Amino acid sequence: MKESVVVFEKITKCYPFYHHITFGIKNFLFTLPTSLKAMKASRFEALHDVSFEVYKGETFGIIGRNGAGKSTILGLIAGVLKTNQGKITIMGRISPLLELGAGFHPELTGRENIILNGILLGLTRKDVLRKMEEIIEFSEIRDFIDQPIRTYSSDML
Ligand SMILES: Nc1ncnc2c1ncn2[C@@H]1O[C@H](COP(=O)(O)OP(=O)(O)O)[C@@H](O)[C@H]1O
Ligand SMILES: [Mg+2]
Repeated sequence: MKESVVVFEKITKCYPFYHHITFGIKNFLFTLPTSLKAMKASRFEALHDVSFEVYKGETFGIIGRNGAGKSTILGLIAGVLKTNQGKITIMGRISPLLELGAGFHPELTGRENIILNGILLGLTRKDVLRKMEEIIEFSEIRDFIDQPIRTYSSDML
């Protein structure tokens, strides 16, 4: 049986619309309750009624134009954003690479950063060491793995 790891059910995500104070700050403050209500009400729907399911072992890509809502979906999966409507179910551990390099230390080597990052992501040191070979293989930069990462190019990072 297929096992779901990420489930989006009818997800709607809104952002507040920031607009200009058209009739001047004085007028804005004078009619404050109405002004605030108008601000709250004007929201931009980045995602509308989005549903999908990702199964264990599956590679799942999200394609779309600039502003289509790709990063919003990733942010919701990672838990850095909250939905307005709908239900998100996540099984297992999430390792977001939205801010690649967060938790890397420039003076440590590639290998040392693998350990540091693995631990930050919730693995034990033993877990990381067991996966070390596989991680280095995946990185394609074995020859540089014992150099401090400040010497790496952005692609190598
Ligand atoms: N923090 C935010 N506040 C207001 N609007 C936002 C915010 N983040 C994204 N948006 C809007 O939501 C829409 C989707 O953005 P995003 O998910 O970043 O798209 P993508 O990653 O597909 O380019 C865009 O129209 C964008 O302007
Ligand atoms: Mg994006």
